Amino acid sequence: MRLPSAKKGGQSCTEVNIGCSLWKGDSTRKTILSLAKVYRLLEPGPVVLLTTATRRQANVMPMSWHMMIDFEPPLVGCVVSNRNYSFQALKATKECVINIPTVDLAATVVRCGNTSGRDLDKFQAFGLTAVKASRVGAPMIEECFASLECRVVDARLVTRYNLFILQVIRAWCDRSVKLPKTIHHLGFGTFMVAGRRITLPSRMR
Ligand SMILES: Cc1cc2nc3c(=O)[nH]c(=O)nc-3n(C[C@H](O)[C@H](O)[C@H](O)COP(=O)(O)O)c2cc1C
Repeated sequence: MRLPSAKKGGQSCTEVNIGCSLWKGDSTRKTILSLAKVYRLLEPGPVVLLTTATRRQANVMPMSWHMMIDFEPPLVGCVVSNRNYSFQALKATKECVINIPTVDLAATVVRCGNTSGRDLDKFQAFGLTAVKASRVGAPMIEECFASLECRVVDARLVTRYNLFILQVIRAWCDRSVKLPKTIHHLGFGTFMVAGRRITLPSRMR
């Protein structure tokens, strides 16, 4: 079955529906971001909302243990505890979306971290809008300013460290959000909020 899906660069397109019709929207205000720029979203280490989906349900999990591994294609290492419901879905489907929230979603982030998809539909419970992604079965979260569609490309360290190596295969970003106030986990419910920017003559890409 083919469904209308997210807009790419202003044009609507169709994609294969891979079995889930749980999300409310099929379009997004985000536009495609160059994969070369993905590291700029993740390098400062914001708390992200990892979405996964099985045939039964879509789920959301806050995650702060992630790191960039390569520029392009963008590779991201993520630790997802095998005690979390999200672990099974990620291991089985090898797909997810990394959604990046801003401070206005901080309370929702904490609520998602205090509960499990085993017991609760977190999208419904916490008023998050699931939007169909274009390349993976997991949904994007509309309330987040950026969403990165990912596939697991290396699972060799999962057994030992719960560490999944993801490749970002499509990136979406709401460009109207000029200075996203991302949140950075300091432990036990405390977060640092992104603020002032400075630019220096650095040789680092
Ligand atoms: C700010 C924050 C950061 C977190 N980071 C991670 C993480 O990096 N990896 C992880 O496995 N769990 C992390 N957690 C814990 C999970 O989000 C939490 O266990 C959640 O309930 C799992 O949901 P699930 O069972 O629906 O997958 C974090 C929680 C919070 C609030």
